[in-house]
Amino acid sequence: MKKTVRNRSGKTVSESNVEMVEVVLPNDANPLGNILGGKVMHLIDIAGAIVAHRHTRKVVVTVSVDNLDFLHPIRVGQLIILRAQITRAFRTSVEVAVKVYLEDLLTGERRQTSSAFVTYVALDSEGRPVEVPQVIPVTPDEKYEYRQALVRRRHRLAAAARAHRRYFEKQMPK
Ligand SMILES: CC(C)(COP(=O)(O)OP(=O)(O)OC[C@H]1O[C@@H](n2cnc3c(N)ncnc32)[C@H](O)[C@@H]1OP(=O)(O)O)[C@@H](O)C(=O)NCCC(=O)NCCS
Repeated sequence: MKKTVRNRSGKTVSESNVEMVEVVLPNDANPLGNILGGKVMHLIDIAGAIVAHRHTRKVVVTVSVDNLDFLHPIRVGQLIILRAQITRAFRTSVEVAVKVYLEDLLTGERRQTSSAFVTYVALDSEGRPVEVPQVIPVTPDEKYEYRQALVRRRHRLAAAARAHRRYFEKQMPK
């Protein structure tokens, strides 16, 4: 039987890379002077969404965030640096890896504080999922993440299906 070959354009990872830097201000901190987890989550989502937007040139929505750990506090006055890059595109969704670092302005110390894989879905003007360009991995690291993204996606979708079954089995409590 003749296979249908889809002709979808591709883009390299470096075409959509993002680096964002902000200084941590008191308004974004808890009483100990450490940045709030919610603020970090917000910045992760923004950095990842810009990558997804640049890659697809469509409106994108966040559909899933893989587990997110906060390994070290980032203190008021330090820099929070976010590096985001696309790992792989599927049919209408893309996976973006976001790494978070702190930089101490006085000592120059830099260390990674979090990382997350965020999945975005591209939508058309009617709000329906729409096909996205493929990712062309170039470097050995990009090729590794490209392969791993498929494994993560399988686990992610299986976990989502299990969780959704649990949600819908139960009535909303009164
Ligand atoms: C994203 C959304 C449009 C997907 O709708 P849907 O009916 O599941 O659409 P589809 O089944 O066609 O799935 C679309 C894509 O989402 C992916 N997807 C769906 N649920 C997913 C999940 N939990 N994790 C990862 N990807 C998921 C599908 O695999 C598919 O990707 P693919 O085409 O690359 O294979 C819909 O769930 C939505 O609008 N969610 C709310 C998004 C939002 O508002 N986010 C902001 C925070 S609330």
